[in-house]
Amino acid sequence: MYRTHYSSQITEELHGKKVKVAGWVYEVKDLGGIKFLWLRDREGIVQITAPKKKVNEEVFALIPKLNSEDVIAVEGVVNFTPKAKLGFEIIPEKIEILSRADSPLPLDPTGKVKAELDTRLDNRFMDLRRPEVMAIFKIRSSVFKAVRDFFYQEGFIEIHTPKIIATATEGGTELFPMKYFERDAFLAQSPQLYKQIMMASGLDRVFEIAPIFRAEEHNTTRHLNEAWSIDAEMAFIESEDEVMGLLERLVAHAINYVREHNEKELKILDLELEEPKLPFRRITYTQALEILKDLGKEIPWGEDIDTEGEKMLGQYIKETYDEDLYFIYQYPSEAKPFYIMKYDDKPEISRAFDLEYRGVEITSGGQREHRYEKLKEQIAEKGLKVESFEFYLKAFRYGMPPHGGFGLGAERLLKQMLNLNNIREVILFPRDRKRLEP
Ligand code: AMO
Repeated sequence: MYRTHYSSQITEELHGKKVKVAGWVYEVKDLGGIKFLWLRDREGIVQITAPKKKVNEEVFALIPKLNSEDVIAVEGVVNFTPKAKLGFEIIPEKIEILSRADSPLPLDPTGKVKAELDTRLDNRFMDLRRPEVMAIFKIRSSVFKAVRDFFYQEGFIEIHTPKIIATATEGGTELFPMKYFERDAFLAQSPQLYKQIMMASGLDRVFEIAPIFRAEEHNTTRHLNEAWSIDAEMAFIESEDEVMGLLERLVAHAINYVREHNEKELKILDLELEEPKLPFRRITYTQALEILKDLGKEIPWGEDIDTEGEKMLGQYIKETYDEDLYFIYQYPSEAKPFYIMKYDDKPEISRAFDLEYRGVEITSGGQREHRYEKLKEQIAEKGLKVESFEFYLKAFRYGMPPHGGFGLGAERLLKQMLNLNNIREVILFPRDRKRLEP
């Protein structure tokens, strides 16, 4: 065993005791009669102090020969002393080099020398050695845990649906085509049809956390070509409002979980996460257009609210109500996919909603059309071939309860939660228009 403790686990009770720490060489300082070495592991940094009189010759001679980012294991005695910057040091008895680091390094893991995002992503393994970057991925891990915990608490069952599929769901333009033996297939842009089929199975409340693939042509700071979607679908709902209620509690739970469990990481990122106020504000699409009109931006009824409009609304909600999260609902039916239910008494309006986080859409969802004949009509209305949906439609002919759900973009949620400029910051190895490696 090379390591008995992470840096953060060295507490005062260990004073005078022997420990083993392991990690990367952060810095070496040679003051002649005393040599210092700072070692970085996942949890932080430890100081190794080697006064000539207290350590053996071999250890003393080795320290100045270490290079930045060499991987080492150190065995030594813990010494709590106010003289050490961190309050304690380790007096080494043995230092072992496990792996040498070449120089120059592809980027500076101390962050003192700033690097472009592209250089950082090309050298992601080294980029992650910077505490601010590692903090993002520790928070990402927390968010996924919180989301899973929440769904289990709420009686949801985790499902896994195919990622190689035959039909588009979210419009045909953003599909990645592929060859599936003799046939044409696509990478899934959403588990939409499958999670709905599950509503006919009796599983009632399901969720899936999986990648979605979208052939977004343009490079933006909020689109990826491979993203992680948190999908849910629930049956026996009376309106889309029940789905919105679940979603707002889920997002609040994830944010509060990070507030509680990632204090250290939030501090590294210099972020104060506010506790979200429940319920989230709900504004109709029509109200949103009115607000935008007052702000000097006119969008014709029926058209999507563009990025600029979304941003303006986000600012307005923040300034007026001091809120970050809000729903836009009752979208025009023509702006939403075929599977969304329309209001029976007002078919131009749909039961679709989006959840916005400071002016960026993080979720789409709604109540679905579960009535077979109406669903068929809606598929045709959108100019799609009803025959291509037979495998899906079949599930609506033998007892399909009313249902609804949502797709929450994990990277969008994280980007907005952590106030980052670029969605690429929150995914380890982003896939975008140019990036296929690493
Ligand atoms: P939609 O297409 O709006 O809805 O996607 C749902 C959510 O997924 C995220 N998302 C993306 N994130 C990063 N890069 C992308 N290219 C990208 N595309 C989408 C967003 C978005 O809000 N089937 C419906 C959901 C449902 O109704 O259940 C759907 O896919 O956060």
